[in-house]
Amino acid sequence: MSRPYRIVCVVAARPNLVKIAPLLAAFQPPQTQVETVLVHTGQHYDADMDAQFFNTLALAEPDFRLQVGSASHAVQTAEVMRRFEPVLDQLAPSAVLVVGDVNSTLACALTAAKKQIPVLHVEAGLRSFDRTMPEEINRVLTDQLSELLFTSEASGTSNLLREGIPPHRVHFVGNVMIDTLLGQLPRAPSTASVLRQAHLAGFIGDGAHYALLTLHRPSNVDDPRRLRALMTAMVKLSEDLPILFPLHPRTRAMLKQHELASLLDAPRIACLPPQSYLNMLGLMKHACVVLTDSGGMQEESTVLRVPCLTLRENTERPVTVSEGSNAIAGRDPAVILALCRDILRYGGKSGRIPQYWDGHAAARIVTATTNWLQTRRERRA
Ligand code: UD1
Repeated sequence: MSRPYRIVCVVAARPNLVKIAPLLAAFQPPQTQVETVLVHTGQHYDADMDAQFFNTLALAEPDFRLQVGSASHAVQTAEVMRRFEPVLDQLAPSAVLVVGDVNSTLACALTAAKKQIPVLHVEAGLRSFDRTMPEEINRVLTDQLSELLFTSEASGTSNLLREGIPPHRVHFVGNVMIDTLLGQLPRAPSTASVLRQAHLAGFIGDGAHYALLTLHRPSNVDDPRRLRALMTAMVKLSEDLPILFPLHPRTRAMLKQHELASLLDAPRIACLPPQSYLNMLGLMKHACVVLTDSGGMQEESTVLRVPCLTLRENTERPVTVSEGSNAIAGRDPAVILALCRDILRYGGKSGRIPQYWDGHAAARIVTATTNWLQTRRERRA
């Protein structure tokens, strides 16, 4: 039997898959009368960045694959819009649901808004106040285009209200990424088993300490001087603590292009290919410190209560610092090293878990969305 409402859900890049999984599950009948249609823009396409995540998260094959691939921001955004528009024409959905802040998030929100199709934004309101980050531009614009805005932390709500979004559109629901984490954590492997898979069995001894490092922000990896400084600091740190470093394809390419790949030969730095979701959870859970420029890992380490040092000058997720286990380390190698050594000596902060990061964010979003759909239908009748 056909259902009265249809919502097109968009995914594009690794973190989007982690965010959409609990939402698709929560919209399933008999909980709702909403039919979901999954559109994958193809921004991430390598098996390591994509297919593996579908398997682990038990996501159904997307209904549409737009296969946009990599390109400049303008071309990628334009190409998503060009390929998404006919999908909307064909489906005439009640709404389009987008998550996060990647280029495809904005592209699909803009395509829908121009067609008067309401946009629902999950993870709305986060602000780094740094417009040099492409994601900040995507966040601000997507929020301006959205009809319902779901925030993951209180700062998101206050940012939106300050930007003039009417309060009735904003719902503080918590963090869908944490819904997935709490569901999947029992399946996360040990570090020893991840290292065995990577043929690095002897790299760290049983139960030994290590740091987990990830880098992929253009502001860190595209500028050769910055990348060299950060990697030199990591080589120094590795003398105190072995480092596991899953390499994002952008970072691998930049290290090669800038002739910095030899820095990876340090004996106590182990490079790994992009890891599956469960492997990443296992590596994070058992690390003594996480060093990262990823937004998602700041949140995940907060819930795992593992100290995190963010290798950026700011964060759009301030609750991970004010309540969680995160600290902004910036990019100065001396500061990063000093903070790491403090954590090694004194243990670092474990923090507490923010409000509504409790595994029920998707259920709150589904309740707010179905209420909104019904009210809208009654008003139109
Ligand atoms: C994108 C998001 C970023 C998010 C990240 C998660 C934007 C602006 N950025 O960054 O917010 O944190 O995803 O990983 O949307 N590549 C591959 N295989 C792939 C995908 C990418 O080799 O499957 C390479 C390509 O050379 C590409 C580069 O990585 O040019 C960057 O990919 P892109 O999707 O543009 O951005 P990310 O850096 O992954």
